[in-house]
Amino acid sequence: MILSAVVVTSAAALAPGGLTKMMATVADAPAYSTAKSAEIMAEAKELMPGGVSSPVRAFKSVGGEPIVFDRVKGAYCFDVDGNQYIDYVGTWGPAICGHAVEEVNAALAEALEKGTSFGAPSLNENVLAKMVIDAVPSVEMVRFTNSGTEACMGMLRLVRAYTNREKIVKFEGCYHGHADGFLVQAGSGVATLGLPDSPGVPGGATAGTLVATYNDLDSVETLLKEHEVAAVVLEPVVGNSGFIPPTQEFLEGLRKLTTDYGALLVFDEVMTGFRIAYGGAQEYFGVTPDVTTMGKVIGGGLPVGAYGGRKDIMEVVAPAGPMYQAGTLSGNPLAMTAGIKTLEILKRQGQYEELDRLTKKLVSGIIDAGKEAGHAICGGSISGMFGFFFCDGPVNNFQDAKKSDTEKFAKWHRAMLEKGVYLAPSQFEAGFMSLAHTDDDIDKTIEAAKAVFAEI
Ligand SMILES: Cc1ncc(COP(=O)(O)O)c(C=O)c1O
Repeated sequence: MILSAVVVTSAAALAPGGLTKMMATVADAPAYSTAKSAEIMAEAKELMPGGVSSPVRAFKSVGGEPIVFDRVKGAYCFDVDGNQYIDYVGTWGPAICGHAVEEVNAALAEALEKGTSFGAPSLNENVLAKMVIDAVPSVEMVRFTNSGTEACMGMLRLVRAYTNREKIVKFEGCYHGHADGFLVQAGSGVATLGLPDSPGVPGGATAGTLVATYNDLDSVETLLKEHEVAAVVLEPVVGNSGFIPPTQEFLEGLRKLTTDYGALLVFDEVMTGFRIAYGGAQEYFGVTPDVTTMGKVIGGGLPVGAYGGRKDIMEVVAPAGPMYQAGTLSGNPLAMTAGIKTLEILKRQGQYEELDRLTKKLVSGIIDAGKEAGHAICGGSISGMFGFFFCDGPVNNFQDAKKSDTEKFAKWHRAMLEKGVYLAPSQFEAGFMSLAHTDDDIDKTIEAAKAVFAEI
């Protein structure tokens, strides 16, 4: 049976077995409509640039109008027209346990009674800091921020302050938030919208940013030889050019090269932290950087970021040291609470094995279906992070990723949406599985994909 987005009431959707029942009656469902979403977006465009609070949400690269969310629960999202979707975006990564998880909500309700912001030290900062330090091999000390962008901004200043060098090496197609110094050949929304570099970024802000090619050690060594580099910064598994894994040799080689040339190695684990393994990519690949940035999962769906690393490096941060960085809402009690609960759930036996099993099943099902229908398609996954490209592959860097047929991706995206599957609205974004997804969800997604591959 082919899945399609159907109109449901919230009670039906949230009842045990609700989705299954709804899908069984799909033939009787009203035609798919997104009229209310369109109405809200039309108004939003008059109120906010592009009608959104963050660019990729606008569906620019896949065409058509975005759907407007009403609510999320478990593995599903619901739009304002009453359509239900199996969600593989998971609010761009944080929803690794599923949406609106009862345990997290209960802890948040309790925390809410104590106040929404302290602007002063609180015990739960220690609790989450200890959890992060215990889990992430490189982290001996941590500073909490409000977003991944803020964490990366702090990290950038820190590596320069610690090494007394100004240059950094980043990789084409890697995204580290929207700070000036990183908006050079960044992936994610910058790639999605085809923006070369953003206007408004002063030349001076990017003069110290050097760009290398992912999975290519020679391109890094050339830069390290020619310049005094403070740090080599990378997504240890790329999610912002689509899903691109590193080779083991690449990560090990970077560790050696940075040590040899006196530069710091920084893993930006905003996306991969606590997602591909409890200890992040550094645990998964057994390569320990000097500094790590985090976000998304460690806030359990509330706004959080963090950067951490060796104690001697972190003690350069104010007020322990001279490098200034601050935040009114940093270490926010609600965000700490959601993060602690989320990590508690993730630490339970077998969670990452389950994410890996479900994701592999989804990815192999879709690739097989695509190939059977005669499409050039490749893709992969690590634990609960995955992606596909509409080309034969292999995809080892951003130039390879750009070979994907993005027009076909746009058609695929829209058709999957109409069949009740919510995927990231860009070829250059990764997909995310959650612990709330079931085998049934995966089977229905693969069925939908088979139907779509026959159409596009
Ligand atoms: C690897 C990486 N770094 C940094 C960021 C920026 O985080 P935020 O969007 O929370 O500012 C992102 C966001 O997707 C990311 O994927």
